[in-house]
Amino acid sequence: MTEGIKVAKNSDIPEGEGLAIPRSITGTDDDIAILHDTDGTFWALNDTCTHQVASLAEGWVEDGTVECPIHASRFCLKSGRVSGLPATRGAVCHRVEVRGEDIWLFPGESPAV
Ligand code: FES
Repeated sequence: MTEGIKVAKNSDIPEGEGLAIPRSITGTDDDIAILHDTDGTFWALNDTCTHQVASLAEGWVEDGTVECPIHASRFCLKSGRVSGLPATRGAVCHRVEVRGEDIWLFPGESPAV
């Protein structure tokens, strides 16, 4: 189990949007996108789209998926699996926990789903 990092307040990320946490904070190879689904839940995926180099935090989050802002690949928020081309490689997921108003990120730890 990794040590969690308090990365944002839940009010910092409107539903349907994301926020990129820089790798200098997460200690991971890629930045990590915190994504706020339209059902109110929060998820985390590696920020760089596996197709090219778009930031998934700048994409559209809806109904359990995030859509890349460049070529519209879709990724499952829970599993990182591709659910819409052109990407063919899934995104790495990380565990997120909401404690009160704070969002905690556990880089490198798989979400419990
Ligand atoms: S960069 Fe994301 S789909 Fe092309």
